[in-house]
Amino acid sequence: MSRSAHPAGPRHADVLPEGHYSAPAADLNVLDEKVWSRTVTRDADGALTVGGIAVARLAEEFGTPAYFLDESDFRARCRAWADAFGPDADVFYAGKAFLSRAVVRWLKEEGLNLDVCSGGELTTALDAGMPAERIAFHGNNKTVAEIERAVEAGVGRIVLDSFQEIVRVAHIAQRHGVRQRVQIRVTVGVEAHTHEFIATAHEDQKFGIALADGQAAEAVRRALSLDGLELIGVHSHIGSQIFDMAGFEVSARRVVQLLAEIRDEHGVELPEIDLGGGLGIAYTSDDDPREPHEIAKALSDIVTRECEAAKLRTPRISVEPGRAIVGPTAFTLYEVGTIKPLEGLRTYVSVDGGMSDNIRTALYDAEYSVALVSRTSDAEPMLVRVVGKHCESGDIVVKDAFLPADLAPGDLIAVPATGAYCRSMASNYNHALRPPVVAVRDGEARVIVRRETEEDLLRLDVG
Ligand code: LLP
Repeated sequence: MSRSAHPAGPRHADVLPEGHYSAPAADLNVLDEKVWSRTVTRDADGALTVGGIAVARLAEEFGTPAYFLDESDFRARCRAWADAFGPDADVFYAGKAFLSRAVVRWLKEEGLNLDVCSGGELTTALDAGMPAERIAFHGNNKTVAEIERAVEAGVGRIVLDSFQEIVRVAHIAQRHGVRQRVQIRVTVGVEAHTHEFIATAHEDQKFGIALADGQAAEAVRRALSLDGLELIGVHSHIGSQIFDMAGFEVSARRVVQLLAEIRDEHGVELPEIDLGGGLGIAYTSDDDPREPHEIAKALSDIVTRECEAAKLRTPRISVEPGRAIVGPTAFTLYEVGTIKPLEGLRTYVSVDGGMSDNIRTALYDAEYSVALVSRTSDAEPMLVRVVGKHCESGDIVVKDAFLPADLAPGDLIAVPATGAYCRSMASNYNHALRPPVVAVRDGEARVIVRRETEEDLLRLDVG
């Protein structure tokens, strides 16, 4: 690709990418329940309400931009996952999608376990009272200090990601006089159909130990030989925002084959397998995610079948959904600042946030929906690009969408399905203040992560 400057034509690309929906929805006022959290609806005045509270009141009380998280939806999704997998399996919520102390308490109350992947996430989990034995600790380069803390706290499992880590964890556990329960993360060689940056089970990437060339078998051999470790199983995570169950099936099959090889070589049947997270959600009306019970059935059927074929006892299955639980439960509320119609192209709608509160569009080419939520409108649809207030043209929140043509500065618009990987990946670019997360439930709204202030910025800057 040439990187030299050239006079720009009016268009760098087609206005709408090939394959993108090219027509607006029949009625822009209708909120597609696929992409909005469960208690979202419009009130008699046409304003969006969540948990029974209208957005105008939320904007007035908490400001914009802000994330509003539908707590009863979050809890319902936790229960749906727990019920779907049943008492003989474990569901670990992946905290990287979004973690706060309130979330940890909800998980605890709803009976879920928690996957953490850093010292910061571990601290949040423990501080909010998650029992250590319900925590799994992940990461491809955990520091010695992080491993020490995890072992001291007594986490239920550490997922080993490299040969160095096998020895490191064993050594630390021995020094603490404990046998640490561990799993080994294997890369099963599956190409998950998702964005390259969030696919994780093909071989040319940084996670896990490859099944290929006997690497994973060698890792198992070493882990079984070390006194500080209790090897409870193997782990596979193939990527994120995946709709196709085929990748999970291949992964489950290969993991079970490894269990059979371990039995044949060492005479031990490892009791657990973890099939990771990665289940896709609907960001636009075009997306068709699977329900937890369908996913649970597909996974348990394949594991049972493969185990029967290999004459293995069926291991206890665990999964680690992050996005599928929290993603659909929140929307980001913005106020429209400026509107620039570009003749023959599209209209640029600038909001008071941007890539600092949602980097996913810039980073992964992610698609989102958007709606006018402070009122309804009968105006014609106009093709828009929703952009932020940051100093670069890649600062795009929603690349292609339709909003009513009478949109005006001061209107509130909302982007649904921003519960996962938006606040958790938010930045201070341009010294933006990261937005608050407000939990809404049964007519009550409360801040669970407060908005950053300019004092916060100055406090970090020691002068
Ligand atoms: N388990 C492991 C070991 C993981 O690495 C991940 C995600 C999950 C579970 C949860 O995956 P989920 O169910 O949330 O898809 N920032 C990217 C996603 C990165 C995912 C990293 N690992 C995004 O915004 O799409």
